[in-house]
Amino acid sequence: MKELETGEVIITQDDLLKRIAELGNSISEDYRGKDPVLICVLKGAAVFMADLIRVVSIPIVIDFLSISSYAGRGESGAVRIIKDLDINIANKDVLMVEDIIDTGFTLGYLLRILKARNPSSLKVAVLLDRPALRIVDLPVAYKGFEIPDEFVVGYGLDYKENFRHLPYICKLKTV
Ligand code: IMP
Ligand code: MG
Repeated sequence: MKELETGEVIITQDDLLKRIAELGNSISEDYRGKDPVLICVLKGAAVFMADLIRVVSIPIVIDFLSISSYAGRGESGAVRIIKDLDINIANKDVLMVEDIIDTGFTLGYLLRILKARNPSSLKVAVLLDRPALRIVDLPVAYKGFEIPDEFVVGYGLDYKENFRHLPYICKLKTV
């Protein structure tokens, strides 16, 4: 039977933290004097969120959304909210924090739902952008890295719930 192991590291922990510090600075400048709510899309964005909020230097509020994720690549399926927000986001400046945008279906769906709740503003911060397979075009205000068309794991991202704990982003290899 084939098993999966991690392969080449494509973004080191050092590079992740440096880039996230830059994103945190931009967010702090852009939202100064506002009332931002950062929303983490579970589970993939949990690690990015944890590092990002600790380099934001203005007061923020955080909340979490949990959605059904597709089991493997190519099984995009319907997106479903499993755990909704606790906070009412009407008249708030909302920043969605996501792990990766691939086709754009997941964020496209979430943005539509959250927009209907009348936030004052609604923006997106994403750690990884893989533009090769984009179907739904989305405005991304804060982007960590663009990556090539290859499946990646680590730093929150999983393959069938494995590898989320790795402190870097790497490829998979079949052994
Ligand atoms: P989209 O809806 O096609 O944009 O896919 C976004 C979601 O698919 C992300 O929130 C991830 O949970 C998952 N995903 C897409 N690409 C990868 C990957 O390379 N590794 C792990 N999860 C991924
Ligand atoms: Mg995800």
